[in-house]
Amino acid sequence: MRNLNPMLHQVLWDWYQMYSKDHTIGKFQESRDTLTHNRTQIISRLIHEFPKSYVESYNIYSDLFNQNEIFEIYDHLEEINILSLATGSGGDVFGLIQALETYFIGKKINVFSVEGNQDALKNQENLFKKHIELSLIHNKVKLFPIVLTIDYDFFNLKTLFEDVYFKQKDAKSFDIIQSSKWMTEDSVREKIRFYDYYRLINQWLGTDRIATLLEYADPKGPFKFEQQLPFYALDDFAFFCKQNRRFNQLAAITPTPCIARRMNNSHLNQCRGCISCYDEFEVITKLPCKKTYKREKTYAFVMKFVTGKLAAAMTQKLQDVTVEYLTVPSREGDAEKYCCLDSKESISTQGNGFRLSQKKTKK
Ligand SMILES: C[S@@+](CC[C@H](N)C(=O)[O-])C[C@H]1O[C@@H](n2cnc3c(N)ncnc32)[C@H](O)[C@@H]1O
Repeated sequence: MRNLNPMLHQVLWDWYQMYSKDHTIGKFQESRDTLTHNRTQIISRLIHEFPKSYVESYNIYSDLFNQNEIFEIYDHLEEINILSLATGSGGDVFGLIQALETYFIGKKINVFSVEGNQDALKNQENLFKKHIELSLIHNKVKLFPIVLTIDYDFFNLKTLFEDVYFKQKDAKSFDIIQSSKWMTEDSVREKIRFYDYYRLINQWLGTDRIATLLEYADPKGPFKFEQQLPFYALDDFAFFCKQNRRFNQLAAITPTPCIARRMNNSHLNQCRGCISCYDEFEVITKLPCKKTYKREKTYAFVMKFVTGKLAAAMTQKLQDVTVEYLTVPSREGDAEKYCCLDSKESISTQGNGFRLSQKKTKK
């Protein structure tokens, strides 16, 4: 993050200096109850978690905009409307904004950022006003902070947007919808169904557009729900596609072979405990209660969705048993990871769920 946005990194560092003498602060790191956190708890997590969310989001959207098909579509838009759910202090939002800054010029970008914790959202607003808005030069970005504890079936979110925002903007869809690391929160875990999130993005995402879902899913992590989360998410997606065949415009491009297997029930049982299709993120962080820096590796389960012609183009080979997919893009010299639909078939081609054609050259 220091390289991507040195100014913002400096702000977090200053906060770290301010709080570094408080040795109790580190104990909030493992909390999954952030909706009710007070200011001190929010700052404590912010110092440690914000850079992680920032880098994760930046990498995910760079992977997507690096594909010509996706880049061309967004490059033709004058305005990009984004819906971001449960955004906390905005690590994921600012990571996405940074990716847009890297790839596009002259866009009007509106970010509708929904969060249930008022203090966290206030932080986000302040960070945006003081340290993001002023440092952006390529695009005109506006942040619309919305305090709302989202209902389990997204009912209050739908009502709010349909009654207020869609009427004001005379629009009914978004160009990007994202959700990052909130389905494992105590307040919503096992209450919000992935199915309902898919239904929401199917309804609100425009044609030829992208959406994402990122959740931590460390198979060796301390939280059981995180270990099982990919199974719930994939099963719900297969069920959603089956139930909504006539109205579904969503296709999921990652995690590539797992999605294909779920859509093709006969291969279900090959997908147990494998982590090769999880995204790995490595970030250097420093906990306020520790003296040294720590290199942290996290496993995230990332679903990337596409609609329209994009979906048709990007998923055409998903059910081909002779294709072996690059499941995780290699970053900084990591070994590439491959997985195939049926381990008993011989492989003739290598495919890439992340990149269809030539890598786009950045501005
Ligand atoms: C772990 S933080 C993740 C924040 C941000 N998405 C990121 O990736 O950095 C989870 C956030 O979800 C929010 N949250 C949890 N349940 C919510 C709900 N029902 N409605 C809105 N926000 C919620 C919490 O307040 C918290 O800010």
